[in-house]
Amino acid sequence: MDFSHELISWYQWNGRDLPWRQTRDPYAIWVSEIILQQTRVVQGMAYYLRFMERFPDVASLASASEDEVLKMWQGLGYYSRARNMREAARQVVERFGGVFPKEYEEVRSLKGVGDYTAAAICSFAYDLPYPAVDGNAYRLLSRFFRVEEPIDTSQGKRLFTQLSLEVMDKGRPALYNQAVMDIGATICLPASPNCEACPLRKGCALGGMPEAVEYPKKGKKITSRDRYFVYLAVEDGTKTYLRRREGKDIWNGLYEYPMVELPAPLSENVDNDWMKPLEQDFSDLHVIGGPVMKKHVLTHQNIHATFFHAEGRFLRRKDSAYIEVEKNRLGEYAVSRLMEKFLLSE
Ligand code: ADE
Repeated sequence: MDFSHELISWYQWNGRDLPWRQTRDPYAIWVSEIILQQTRVVQGMAYYLRFMERFPDVASLASASEDEVLKMWQGLGYYSRARNMREAARQVVERFGGVFPKEYEEVRSLKGVGDYTAAAICSFAYDLPYPAVDGNAYRLLSRFFRVEEPIDTSQGKRLFTQLSLEVMDKGRPALYNQAVMDIGATICLPASPNCEACPLRKGCALGGMPEAVEYPKKGKKITSRDRYFVYLAVEDGTKTYLRRREGKDIWNGLYEYPMVELPAPLSENVDNDWMKPLEQDFSDLHVIGGPVMKKHVLTHQNIHATFFHAEGRFLRRKDSAYIEVEKNRLGEYAVSRLMEKFLLSE
């Protein structure tokens, strides 16, 4: 059987009708791809439509403020993607005169655009023969050809790119890439592949076999570290206080309540001195409610957060990191998903 041919025939009848498939605009395709790296199609759709309405072209994204772009991204997580998009839009304006580049290497050179995204943009927008090797492609190919090579090494990645290049229909790269994504998302599922319904079953090395779920193989274990954050939702009348996170740590550019990070769980803070650092900025600080515990899992970190309601007077030091915000205007600030979970649970 011909892998690509069967796959594309299936796609032409069963492919999903999605808004970013009705355009050849590389900008729109790029936006959709970055969003879909963060979330599933169903949730991504709303973000995509909203994002495209607010930033319909490269120029509008390039001239937007970082705060506004982050706000549109809120809830998707991994905010460096949003910052990189704004930066890449500025690169398109500065380096390519505002016209989205048409060569693979140029597209690949934009901030935040890796091999996968460049291949997706170039195949969908320009029909250039680059395989978009994402999680769906790893899964599908590793099962069909029973590839034992782990995918989390550079050698493994090269091998799958090579294999994709060999099997893809180079005359129809857009259809091929979309078809791999759709069969991966609807049939060749990670934990419960529906081999009965798969058009590739006849040729598949693992079709219908229980071991299929063990593919693709992974070598390294990812390790996560635990972090302990304590937040104080400090109020003074109608006012509350936020700080914009800066620097290389998580959530750069997002706003959050005054907080301290502890080396161990709050319950182990026997001296009860955890609030001290915040007393530089607030006097008469005292807890009036809580604790509200939230656990938030990121790729390499487990955040154990404890929120308290508190009252205090803001000291308005000149170099204070905090800003004063009317409580009913909190919604105007881009906050982390963790902060959002707390605010929504209130
Ligand atoms: N996931 C990533 N890119 C996609 C696309 N273009 N269509 C559907 N799902 C996707």
